[in-house]
Amino acid sequence: MLEQITATRYVTPLKEGGSLPGIIEADDLGTYVLKFRGAGQGLKVLVAEVLVGELARALGLAVPRLTVVDLQAPIAKYEADEEVQDLLTASLGLNLGIDFLPGSFGYDGSRPPSPEVAAQVLWLDALTANVDRTWSNPNLLVWHREPWLIDHGAALYFHHGWPSRGANPERFAAQPFDASTHVLRDVAADPAGAHERLAPLLTPELLDSVTALVPDEWLEPAPGLDSPDALRAAYREHFQARVANPSAWLPGGAS
Ligand SMILES: Nc1ncnc2c1ncn2[C@@H]1O[C@H](COP(=O)(O)OP(=O)(O)O)[C@@H](O)[C@H]1O
Ligand SMILES: [Mg+2]
Repeated sequence: MLEQITATRYVTPLKEGGSLPGIIEADDLGTYVLKFRGAGQGLKVLVAEVLVGELARALGLAVPRLTVVDLQAPIAKYEADEEVQDLLTASLGLNLGIDFLPGSFGYDGSRPPSPEVAAQVLWLDALTANVDRTWSNPNLLVWHREPWLIDHGAALYFHHGWPSRGANPERFAAQPFDASTHVLRDVAADPAGAHERLAPLLTPELLDSVTALVPDEWLEPAPGLDSPDALRAAYREHFQARVANPSAWLPGGAS
């Protein structure tokens, strides 16, 4: 599992985020962006954050360190803002912490990544069906002059269908990806080349090590998926089915 720490102070809400993330301090003296388990979108967005973020990191892309943050009752009790207090109270237990990158700014195109890195990011987003990396919502931070990937909660949308439909890797494998509004589309050199380089890295071992990072209690049972390890296996099978079928989703290159 990801490293676990404990929140010591709620600092402030992050106004820009749609999911009302906040900034907290923790007992390791770090500062983190907190994605709350009690926010409207539920636990599945936290799972997507971990799976896609850690997959990106394993492939060599820059992602802020992810941690599991235990939020305990006293932090909520002494919060003055009622809306925040409700969110904190609904989020007691394990939340997602993302290492805060001080002095970072939102990607605006003024410091584009190399064409190779851009193609890797585009490939990752197409593979994981991440629709949330567009010009209106880049979810890329520039920090120490490098692009850092954040906010993968919208990826892997298929799991929201699990409670009603159960798992279906073949369906995900065949789902197209619309790259037309992707923020790095015009910088990405050669998505097919990125696929050739990156697809072989998605070994069963790598996928197992990434799914193992998700806390058991975030993996909600669904029909046919009645244990955390059954859910981990289902995610692995979805990745494997999709990576084997690039003709369905791999974007064409700029070149
Ligand atoms: N690790 C981080 N370091 C610094 N700022 C961050 C970090 N993560 C998020 N932010 C800021 O908070 C905003 C919202 O975070 P994001 O993960 O995109 O949440 P949401 O799901 O609400 O869109 C980002 O656009 C960015 O400005
Ligand atoms: Mg965002």
